[in-house]
Amino acid sequence: MQNRPLDFLFDFKPQKFLLSELKNWTFFKSQDTLFPNSRHSLLEAFFFCSPMAKPVAIEVYNPNGKYRVVSTKPMPGTRWINLLIDQGCRVEICHLKKTILSVEDIIDLIGNKCDGVIGQLTEDWGETLFSALSKAGGKAFSNMAVGYNNVDVEAANKYGIAVGNTPGVLTETTAELAASLSLAAARRIVEADGFMRAGLYEGWLPHLFVGNLLKGQTVGVIGAGRIGSAYARMMVEGFKMNLIYYDLYQSTRLEKFVTAYGQFLKANGEQPVTWKRASSMEEVLREADLISLHPVLDKTTYHLVNKERLAIMKKEAILVNCSRGPVIDEAALVDHLRENPMFRVGLDVFEEEPFMKPGLADMKNAIVVPHIASASKWTREGMATLAALNVLGRIKGYPIWSDPNRVDPFLNENASPPNASPSIVNSKALGLPVSKL
Ligand code: GLV
Repeated sequence: MQNRPLDFLFDFKPQKFLLSELKNWTFFKSQDTLFPNSRHSLLEAFFFCSPMAKPVAIEVYNPNGKYRVVSTKPMPGTRWINLLIDQGCRVEICHLKKTILSVEDIIDLIGNKCDGVIGQLTEDWGETLFSALSKAGGKAFSNMAVGYNNVDVEAANKYGIAVGNTPGVLTETTAELAASLSLAAARRIVEADGFMRAGLYEGWLPHLFVGNLLKGQTVGVIGAGRIGSAYARMMVEGFKMNLIYYDLYQSTRLEKFVTAYGQFLKANGEQPVTWKRASSMEEVLREADLISLHPVLDKTTYHLVNKERLAIMKKEAILVNCSRGPVIDEAALVDHLRENPMFRVGLDVFEEEPFMKPGLADMKNAIVVPHIASASKWTREGMATLAALNVLGRIKGYPIWSDPNRVDPFLNENASPPNASPSIVNSKALGLPVSKL
């Protein structure tokens, strides 16, 4: 991090201070004595006191920057901030304590002048916010996420606002969490951990936490795109599982990989692995011992796994979901888990986050984690960088990167990123030019 000016604006929500007013006030305070090792210097601090209210801090970098970019949450790493300020942006980061910001909170953040916003998948980016951003002169919004089911892209198109997402950095990290949940469910790791901590372990027993062996069983993948394919490879290569997948598109690379790996195993005198592209989702559900869901969430995949489909799965199957919660009918899943104690599930996402459907938390055959599939340091810092560059690129009028899956040039810490927006999902609708790089 270079030596950059940093200022904090503290607001108190109940008093509804207009952030745009606060930005005109300046108080000086030396930070060096407070944080001697920090390379920031704290220039401004604003405190508004109310006995009831909690402080809301807006952290401001490069106060005199020409373009105002707001991030609705602090994001990992510092490179994304430096990249923005190096190209003339004033960066404002909201530290509001509330986890999920409302539309009203974000309207306050946008204020009267805002060139671009970096937001989160928990926020409702629709007509109201795009209209507010457009009125404030904004050109770009980027989700710090690959999924953008929280964004009404049609509404963004109407206001000519570019919508960014962050593919290319989440693939392996997300697939690794799906693999972790698969193993944890197969070997009942969370249950066994709870048992140890409760002081219940009295010694080795033949029946203690017996689970499923994955080797030689069949892994089913619903949606064999980037993440689904990476997960399939991990389970095939790591655990020598056979693959059955369902996708509207043929995954030739994945098929080739399993064929080659099968040949390698055979040449070494081991049982070869196999693959099959299913002609229906039901075929996967019927045949697989472990199934991982990797579709995008849209109207066609809402409640893709429902009561009827759960019923055709094997009684001892494992179901993993690191995609989006509403892909599973969660209430039906709770019933199914209750009626089939040997059926196990590993969930990273929930139908109505942050809540779980009644009964889910009581089910021993469910492993639940709080939407952390992309939560590795490298991935989260990369997501922040890509989201910032999506917004910056549009503000500066750069073209759109030609392959949003090939984003390595944007992630190289030792070089300047290309002058392009890495991934704008509505670039065609807005007629934005594609980079020749
Ligand atoms: C996380 O869920 C993402 O879509 O990036």
